[in-house]
Amino acid sequence: MAASISFTLNGDKTIYSGNPSARLLDVLRGELGLTGTKCGCKEGECGACAVLIDGKLINSCLVALGSLEGSDVVTIEGYSKTERFAALDKAYASVSAVQCGFCIPAMLLASENLLAANPHPDDDEIRTGISGNLCRCTGYNSIVKAIGIASRDNKCWNEPDHTEKCSVAQHGTTKCSIVSKTLKETLLQLDRSDIRPYAGGTDLMVSKNCEKDNYLFLGNIPEMRQISVDEEFIRFGAACTFSETAAHPLTPAILKEACLQIAAPAIRNAGTLGGNIANGSAKADSALVFMATGSKLRIVSAGSERILPVKEFYLGAGKTALSPGELIAQILMPRYGIDNYYYKKVGARNALAISRTSFAAVLDIQDKIIKNCAVAFGAVTDVIIRFEDIDKMLIGKTIQEAKEIKDAYIAAYNEAIIPRRGRVGAQYRKDICMNLLQDFLSSNGV
Ligand code: FES
Ligand code: FES
Repeated sequence: MAASISFTLNGDKTIYSGNPSARLLDVLRGELGLTGTKCGCKEGECGACAVLIDGKLINSCLVALGSLEGSDVVTIEGYSKTERFAALDKAYASVSAVQCGFCIPAMLLASENLLAANPHPDDDEIRTGISGNLCRCTGYNSIVKAIGIASRDNKCWNEPDHTEKCSVAQHGTTKCSIVSKTLKETLLQLDRSDIRPYAGGTDLMVSKNCEKDNYLFLGNIPEMRQISVDEEFIRFGAACTFSETAAHPLTPAILKEACLQIAAPAIRNAGTLGGNIANGSAKADSALVFMATGSKLRIVSAGSERILPVKEFYLGAGKTALSPGELIAQILMPRYGIDNYYYKKVGARNALAISRTSFAAVLDIQDKIIKNCAVAFGAVTDVIIRFEDIDKMLIGKTIQEAKEIKDAYIAAYNEAIIPRRGRVGAQYRKDICMNLLQDFLSSNGV
């Protein structure tokens, strides 16, 4: 299916006519001759392909063209015409922060993404800002130094007038037919069996035949990008990105912490809450938090709507309770009883997207009595696991009483958790689970 997609590229109105499922990276390099955007892994791991989309750093290997309708895209070719680029260029050169240069176009855009949000980062914040950009030459120290110099010596990033002058951003105005603007319109289109919902694309675009799929792009549906609150729940639109969710004032601390540990900025700026749940992965970090907090899903189709607890959503490896034509529209997270939480993710490196094991728990204590205890484990078996019957052992107890049955509680988990081997061994996973469970209990005085 061909489509016309209208967006702004390096300040120029651009219309792309072609396959809306095509990768932005391939189109930039192969069709538009913008080879400053580099190709490393095509899996979102190396960051060499990163560009700015609506001012946010995003890996272009994980972006389908159709999702760009109305967006503003800046590659290194456009950015190199700005005063901000000149400031970074000078700073990088001053400390020899470039060797082969392969990573540098995206590294400069990652520097821009960081400094635009935080004009005076410390070294740790700089390392986090470039954590998704691999460099095989410099050892990073000189790059960190260069970004520090640019932030200190130049006013580009902290004077509003100057910031405006440096910006190349404009916004496109036209819309294309494969991009729905309302939820109702989307659900009618979804009734077609050969179309797949596309929110952030960070999972879909890694799959082998991603460019052959027909996507329905959800990013422009306002209802799916909003975060609101009612008496009982905080309601997250399923197409909210991890970055948007982490930055929102209504987001509870447990979810904020999980979102900020999902990969690097270039993934967090694109990946969505709904996508993280709908892919049915046991490694989905935000889904783990929704499981532990007893959250629910608002699932809609053209003719119906239902509310389903997250714990009933996972049916097996990659299998979910979502029927054809259905879409997760919102995630409903309880407002109360989730402030006392414990969250840990174990992975190979912070910016690597995939958890090796993850753990989320809430312990609600009122008037010295445990009102609720909910523990969830991710990346241990084929599905995110929760054992409500075991957690019930602690509910209604005082901390002292919980201490007295702690060994039995841990033994019950030891028997119930049967990890499978994945990227790491089963015993390793089991050991992590039991250690984190112990730490969760100890940190609450149990
Ligand atoms: Fe490596 Fe895109 S090519 S993240
Ligand atoms: Fe060579 Fe970074 S300078 S990969």
